[in-house]
Amino acid sequence: MSKANFHQFSFYLENSDVLGINQNSTNTLRHNGYVVTYSDRIAGITAQQLTGFFEGWPTPPSPETHLRILKGSSEVIIAREGEEIVGFITAITDGVLCAYIPLLEVKGSHRSQGIGKELVRLMLLKLSDYYMVDLTCDSALRPFYVSQGMSALTAMSIRNRNRQSGRPE
Ligand SMILES: CC(C)(COP(=O)(O)OP(=O)(O)OC[C@H]1O[C@@H](n2cnc3c(N)ncnc32)[C@H](O)[C@@H]1OP(=O)(O)O)[C@@H](O)C(=O)NCCC(=O)NCCS
Repeated sequence: MSKANFHQFSFYLENSDVLGINQNSTNTLRHNGYVVTYSDRIAGITAQQLTGFFEGWPTPPSPETHLRILKGSSEVIIAREGEEIVGFITAITDGVLCAYIPLLEVKGSHRSQGIGKELVRLMLLKLSDYYMVDLTCDSALRPFYVSQGMSALTAMSIRNRNRQSGRPE
């Protein structure tokens, strides 16, 4: 699915009601009582709206660095409740063959409501015309991604711990 027609898709989730789709690349769902809007646009987002993410990271990126990450990503989907950003997912691509999903997080206060699965589902829709879409995860999360149609492969990685908060500008 291309960026341009993101808004044309209807979004469904087991525990959600579709509330409406507009022509501005946004969609709104009700998750067990609260309303969450999904958007692939980050224009107007401020660093102040990005507090509370990277939970548990010893040296997390600052909200300002988080905003740089969103702006530097090929694809982004943001989940909001009102003005509060409660979840996000990013992807980087070569624009031709390959895509990688490096980051997915839902704020602790909003977990287990289906928001994470919806973010993955929408990102996989956006990336559906790429040959390979990869991510790495803890083994405990395999069922979460398998439920989204993904399968397990062996991955290799390097983690440069002294850059966990991001490269300097
Ligand atoms: C993973 C994450 C995005 C899921 O978001 P969410 O909105 O809670 O996800 P959903 O409500 O759609 O699905 C929840 C289900 O995912 C699975 N799940 C979520 N986190 C899990 C974990 N750490 N280990 C195993 N299963 C997990 C469980 O099956 C869970 O079901 P439950 O709520 O009945 O326990 C969220 O837990 C999170 O932000 N975690 C910290 C960051 C992270 O691990 N990101 C993924 C990087 S690969």
